[in-house]
Amino acid sequence: MLGTSLVPVITVDGPGGSGKGTISRLLAQKLEWHLLDSGALYRLTALAALRNGVKLNRESELAVLARDLNVVFTVNQEGEPSILLDGTDVTLDVRSEACGESASKVAALQSVREALLQKQRDFRALPGLVADGRDMGTVVFPDAPLKIFLTASLQERALRRHEQLKAQGVNANLSSLLHDLSERDARDAHRAVSPLRPADDAVEIDSSKLDIPTVLDRILRLAIERNIV
Ligand code: DC
Repeated sequence: MLGTSLVPVITVDGPGGSGKGTISRLLAQKLEWHLLDSGALYRLTALAALRNGVKLNRESELAVLARDLNVVFTVNQEGEPSILLDGTDVTLDVRSEACGESASKVAALQSVREALLQKQRDFRALPGLVADGRDMGTVVFPDAPLKIFLTASLQERALRRHEQLKAQGVNANLSSLLHDLSERDARDAHRAVSPLRPADDAVEIDSSKLDIPTVLDRILRLAIERNIV
């Protein structure tokens, strides 16, 4: 059997709202590669905790929930990516700000991260994988041949989130989004286990003033230069 280390991976790490979700999805579509949205696994663990009445400070119970997640990543009738948890469509629930907030707390727990590690590595399959997260390049796929660290200013990220939520018909307040994002950034960057940081060999791209096609093009060029695609 082909060793998974021969399967190319492009990791896209960065803070919330940097555009890595959109970029990773488009990159995977363009290359016809698999996609790992690792944040969804932390969000699903938080949602499973809520649904099972498990408090967010019960580390060992949360790790069991993470290990036993019954999740299916699929595509709905409109061709949009959707997520089923225990057979129920939770695509919208997992993207809520409340779920993101709880996910950030759950993600700081070492046993939860350990429980999700192999699940994430199992996504590595031919012809290749685009992995979106916070520690894809540092912990989960340290041998990835191309690692991107995507950033954007806090103001720009809050504005993007605001637009996204408005488009979903959610009435969000910009200053509270700014506040929540900066708190979440601090928690993700300063936690003891797998903090958000660029891998030593990551290419940093600041997307504050770049549109999506420009960022995508830059990553594709790097992939071609490195003979990954
Ligand atoms: O990317 P996101 O907003 O869906 O992530 C939700 C939370 O999960 C976020 O606070 C950071 C955390 N996370 C993480 O710690 N490690 C990952 N690989 C992905 C997400």
